[in-house]
Amino acid sequence: MSSKFNLSFVRNLTLTEKAALVTGKNYWYTADNKKREIPSIMMTDGPSGLRKQAEGADALGLNGSVEAVCFPTAALTACSFDKSMLFKLGQNLGQAAKAENISILLGPGVNIKRSPLAGRNFEYFSEDPYLAGELGSSYVQGVQSQKVGVSVKHFAANNRENQRFTASSNIDERTLREIYLKAFEKIVKTAQPATLMCSYNELNGVLNSQNHRLLTQILRNEWGFQGAVMSDWGAVADHVAALNAGLDLEMPGNGKDSVHQIVTAVQNGQLEESVLDTAALRVLHLVEKYVNSQTVHSSSYDKAEQHDFARQAAEDSLVLLKNEHQILPLQKNDHVALIGALAKTPRYQGGGSSHVNSYRVVAPLDAAQQSDYDFDYAPGYSLNTNKPDKELVNAAIKLAQENDKVIFFAGVPEQDESEGFDKETLDLPDNQVALIEQLAQVNPNLIVVLQNGSVVTMPWRDSALAILETYLAGEAVGEATWNILTGATNPSGKLAETFPIRLEDNPTYGTFNASKTQENYHEGIFVGYRYYDLKKKAVNYPFGYGLSYTTFTYSNLVIQNTSDQVSVEFDIQNTGQVAGQEIAQLYVRNLVSAVEMPVQELQGISKVYLQPGESKTVQLKLTRPNFAWYNKQNSAWQTDQGEYEIRVGKSSRQIELRQRIQLEIGTKPSKTINLNTYLKDIIYRSDLKNALAKAGLQSSIDQILQSDSNAELLENMPLRALVMLGASMQQIETFLKLVQNKNS
Ligand code: BGC
Repeated sequence: MSSKFNLSFVRNLTLTEKAALVTGKNYWYTADNKKREIPSIMMTDGPSGLRKQAEGADALGLNGSVEAVCFPTAALTACSFDKSMLFKLGQNLGQAAKAENISILLGPGVNIKRSPLAGRNFEYFSEDPYLAGELGSSYVQGVQSQKVGVSVKHFAANNRENQRFTASSNIDERTLREIYLKAFEKIVKTAQPATLMCSYNELNGVLNSQNHRLLTQILRNEWGFQGAVMSDWGAVADHVAALNAGLDLEMPGNGKDSVHQIVTAVQNGQLEESVLDTAALRVLHLVEKYVNSQTVHSSSYDKAEQHDFARQAAEDSLVLLKNEHQILPLQKNDHVALIGALAKTPRYQGGGSSHVNSYRVVAPLDAAQQSDYDFDYAPGYSLNTNKPDKELVNAAIKLAQENDKVIFFAGVPEQDESEGFDKETLDLPDNQVALIEQLAQVNPNLIVVLQNGSVVTMPWRDSALAILETYLAGEAVGEATWNILTGATNPSGKLAETFPIRLEDNPTYGTFNASKTQENYHEGIFVGYRYYDLKKKAVNYPFGYGLSYTTFTYSNLVIQNTSDQVSVEFDIQNTGQVAGQEIAQLYVRNLVSAVEMPVQELQGISKVYLQPGESKTVQLKLTRPNFAWYNKQNSAWQTDQGEYEIRVGKSSRQIELRQRIQLEIGTKPSKTINLNTYLKDIIYRSDLKNALAKAGLQSSIDQILQSDSNAELLENMPLRALVMLGASMQQIETFLKLVQNKNS
């Protein structure tokens, strides 16, 4: 279908009309133009449920929105490691959006969890860019399969909330490419998102909304992005500079002021009209492509069905962190004490722009009541204070004494974790921590269920026999939690971020939020497990970790290493008594590159469902990008030929199978020899032996090599240092001439 909106259409518009197009009409709509028959499209948050504001408008979720199903947040769905589930989540969101006449859904958020204190971590997938990119792509494909567009956010390096409108993320080029841009790049290249949302922050001193390198050179010229770039709400400080950098649409728009500013800029030569034309055309194409979701809509959708999907998504993701003496699942004849205000008033979604007016919240207490388990309930603490309440504590202890097992619901209260500010601690409130210890003393059969947006510390870890991490699990939190606790569903989620023992163990400790204006990414590429592995740090729970009610064994690693790819095959068997799903993780360890490398990097995932005794073969493929690192010297991705270890594991710290390979793909390590080449790289090469002999160097080398300690000394000297050991400069030069043909 040829587009009504083309360049000549745009050129026929007046300057004022064009300027109006690149400025949002209001909070949620693009500008329309009746005379020119340009419709307006509506967009709405957000990543884990619709926040369509019928009346009133604000970016922080303060005004009410239409009722919608609240799905689990990305912090939890990432733990599913399940691309097909993320696709379905996208489909569900797309259907809801269509039914509500929404053209663009503002999500997913794919920023990297750099510091566990970052206030918006609950909205993001992972500390690992591969995982965030894979899951983000599936989510985008799911939404867009419903002919609703997405806005992938927040582009880029938006990893803190404090001073988010102005702080500069100062990052070296390699780290930027390998960690902070990677997920965006993957999504742009594989899922063609309708829009990208540029974030508030600066990147190395340039405001992202005015960053030509980011918005044009990298995003469009390098990655081939075809969609429109819109601003985060209020991220534009200078609309003319933003248009010049490659921003297409300012949201929510500054009305007549914005239009006037742009018109004047064109008139006085600050802005080329062609730049404005390009941006206006991109907005028109966006409108044209997604306006139908507003006109051909199904008017209603089955919220009950979506609620059930929200439950399944949560069940696919909940992470069982500890389960000693198989205290879980609950047995039918267990008498259980349910303790904790969060069992009744669960924390199941984040605060801020992703806040949903939920369709039907089912609390864990509701789910327990609907089941035929025998239980009692006590709140134990108040969510409004950190201080213990004697009466509540005593009632909880009494209940714990009277029952076989205690399930304690702990978590981070809403007021302590939200968009708009960063956290100051990873600790649970004091009154909850104290109660955990008191309960454990009267009843050792203690199970802790956690509700939190991101990592928490666990000084109480040894006091609980079981720990279930539910993050912010969406409106079906109660059903999902109860189904896992009772074994109706076998847990299969694994952590998409590391749980360190202490905040101080995190590489950003002491620097995160240290300055109001500068956020220095000193740790470089060593984020999350890349850091903890390098430093061999003990952690509470590693990246990729999670338990099941069954057991799995891995075997038969077969690797086929061809000239354009490495295919990896292995078997997984369910060796336990119940059916379950296992998430296998493939890590690559680089043993060849001459630059600093993480110990290992996730490069493949697979989730398999197995009946007891059943075994399946998993096949994964690795191609050049899976082995690449970003070489800032020549501004390009580089894959080095040489030795790698392929690792297959249950978690980043539980590798079950491993094999070394010689990679054929990529660049050969340089063999260039000059005066500064170390003798270690010369004296053991059989192809250089002749030249060494001809130049008269071999005999003196042989003499020195006779003793082991001399050998080490020699290896660690450059070629030019041979003069100290009796060789002449002339001999060295002769040698260099002879090996010139090797220098290619
Ligand atoms: C948030 C975005 C959101 C937008 C619209 C901003 O404050 O950062 O994620 O999509 O508001 O609500």
